[in-house]
Amino acid sequence: MLVHTIAEVREKIKEWKKEGLTVGLVPTMGALHSGHKSLIEKSVEKCDRTVVSVFVNPIQFCPGEDLEKYPRTLEADEKLCTEAGVDIVFAPSPKEMYGEGHIMSSDFLTYVIPPYFYVDKLCGKSRTGHFDGVCTVVNKLFNIVQPDFAFFGEKDRQQLIILKKMVKDLNIPVEIVPCPIIREESGLALSSRNKYLSEEDKKHALALSKILFNIKACYDKGINDVSSLTETAYSYLSEHHELEYLEFRDADDLEEKVNADDNTIVFIALKVANVRLIDNIALR
Ligand code: PAJ
Repeated sequence: MLVHTIAEVREKIKEWKKEGLTVGLVPTMGALHSGHKSLIEKSVEKCDRTVVSVFVNPIQFCPGEDLEKYPRTLEADEKLCTEAGVDIVFAPSPKEMYGEGHIMSSDFLTYVIPPYFYVDKLCGKSRTGHFDGVCTVVNKLFNIVQPDFAFFGEKDRQQLIILKKMVKDLNIPVEIVPCPIIREESGLALSSRNKYLSEEDKKHALALSKILFNIKACYDKGINDVSSLTETAYSYLSEHHELEYLEFRDADDLEEKVNADDNTIVFIALKVANVRLIDNIALR
């Protein structure tokens, strides 16, 4: 069932809660692929009812990013959801979410701001205000849907860690369920932004997963010195790649590691053909 208004969602949720049913929420920006589908399937399996939100959230895009050209494929998204057994596809307009005129600056809108330590690094460094936008919209979705469980992909690991922190700090009564990264057979992590890549670009994009898999293999062989592990990456990089970061950080609080251990996540961001791609791997 496709729903565009908050009021309609609220009405359904009220019914379900009265019947004592559990509700799962899968927040997305649409252009759904098998990565999203894996989250949806997990929710359908775990919860009595599943809501998928499809909303390209303007306040998490920075100036100069791809807000206008971000792929919008609602019809196909709805089909995928229906086939997967989703009960509600919630696709609000920016006006429905942020009000008349939707002036989306923190002078006019109450924001949820995650702690500086979590956002001054990795993606937060180049995407100022991005995680404020993510936390604000996810908090709104939690208030609208009041889910028992909410499903997020490890693909966006910094986002997942920040949202877990938000839920803990603000005592939000929802359990965050982390879901593993879904990859193409080639190793490339699925992403809505892969649509911007040509076949040739996609080959170059394999550098991300190759670098991560190789680091994990070296770690498994006993190398844990971060500078040695970092060096192994350079042989995969060429003039087709613009490396933004390759960092080793703690899986819980994003503290930087000098020596990798089992609680380390390796994070990478690089641009291929001007498309910014991210990936990560846990060393455990
Ligand atoms: P979006 O990029 O559409 O992703 C929605 C969810 O799908 C996120 O939890 C993301 O981590 C997960 N996901 C994407 N690709 C994946 C993959 N290859 N494997 C596993 N999970 C994957 O992330 C957002 O939207 C937004 O920031 C949102 C949380 C919806 C807030 O606007």
